[in-house]
Amino acid sequence: MKIYRDYDLTELNTFGVSARAKLFTEINDPADLTELFALPEFKENKKIFLGGGSNVLFTGDLDGLVVLNNLKGIEVLSETTTEVLIRAMSGEIWHDLVLFAVDREYWGIENLAFIPGTVGAAPMQNVGAYGAELKNILENVETFSTEDGTKRIFTRDECELGYRDSIFKNELKEKYFIFAITLKLSKIEKKNISYKILQEYLEKNKIIIKSPRDISDAVTMIRKNKLPDPKIIGNAGSFFKNIFMEQEKLKNLLQKYPDMPHFREDNLTKIPSAWLIEQCGPANGTSWKGYKLGNVGVHERQALVIVNYGGASGEEIKNLAEKITNSVFDKFKIKLIPEVNLI
Ligand code: EPU
Repeated sequence: MKIYRDYDLTELNTFGVSARAKLFTEINDPADLTELFALPEFKENKKIFLGGGSNVLFTGDLDGLVVLNNLKGIEVLSETTTEVLIRAMSGEIWHDLVLFAVDREYWGIENLAFIPGTVGAAPMQNVGAYGAELKNILENVETFSTEDGTKRIFTRDECELGYRDSIFKNELKEKYFIFAITLKLSKIEKKNISYKILQEYLEKNKIIIKSPRDISDAVTMIRKNKLPDPKIIGNAGSFFKNIFMEQEKLKNLLQKYPDMPHFREDNLTKIPSAWLIEQCGPANGTSWKGYKLGNVGVHERQALVIVNYGGASGEEIKNLAEKITNSVFDKFKIKLIPEVNLI
């Protein structure tokens, strides 16, 4: 196993910011993990496991060991007439797992098409999109302790999955390396097309859903139209989480801003942070949406997405995020929380 020093990470994060790792290595095989855990460099340094680099912002150089996860493999573990268990290694590209499932007519994952990143990142933040969440299909997560290399399997409940959240982001942060996940999908039709934007797209394009592939194709098109391609413009998808609030606070806000979009989800109501950001700007009467200054900006079609137009540093992006957060707080007294992990 080769350990590199002072390794350039520009190509390994979708923001495309330049940052260097003090130490860097790659795991391509489960056997590499055993070797990795025994390395003195592993024991003595802070470890940063990296998948697709699509949800991180490097705010400077990394004083630690960056481990790039290249573990591949997807298999059907077992099936009944109605359900199937699929196991995927954490270094697989998430969308490849979606394609594996929809090609076999398995339902449950199709709304999560075209989310950038790897399989291992999915349980970290309970990936969700277009009315679906990993939480609804996850069976278990296989991990290794980064402290002593022991294996531990987390059931779905033990993962404590919430909105863009899990135990792996909180009390067990950096304590476990996610090795593989198992999903339970349905072999009988279970379409979920209630998400407004998806419903509108299907109606507008007169798409009749006959297979999960029809949904994953539609979601892929919506995402391609709205979200910038990181290969062309650096970004990490939604930079901030949406806001969930209780009825009382919502009522007050709606009195002041009757046009504010809001979506009831269980006991809480979701306020799109994109809308809040759109209502604020660098100066009075301006909007952040479509804003551009030097190398950084806010995407013109999705105000939740901060972009690197080329050559921006992590620090510049972080500064813009702070300005946005402050202006939203000044106007609405609501604090935006980053969805992206700042390292
Ligand atoms: N909206 C605005 N301005 C904008 C964009 C959206 O006001 O510039 C409002 C509209 O009212 C729209 C609503 O926000 O109806 C919802 O917009 P959208 O469906 O695009 O979703 P989102 O809430 O902005 C979330 C996820 C996305 C995911 C979409 C679709 C978060 C932080 N983001 O965004 O996930 O693709 O829903 O389900 O929850 C990501 O995590 O990186 C990501 C892209």
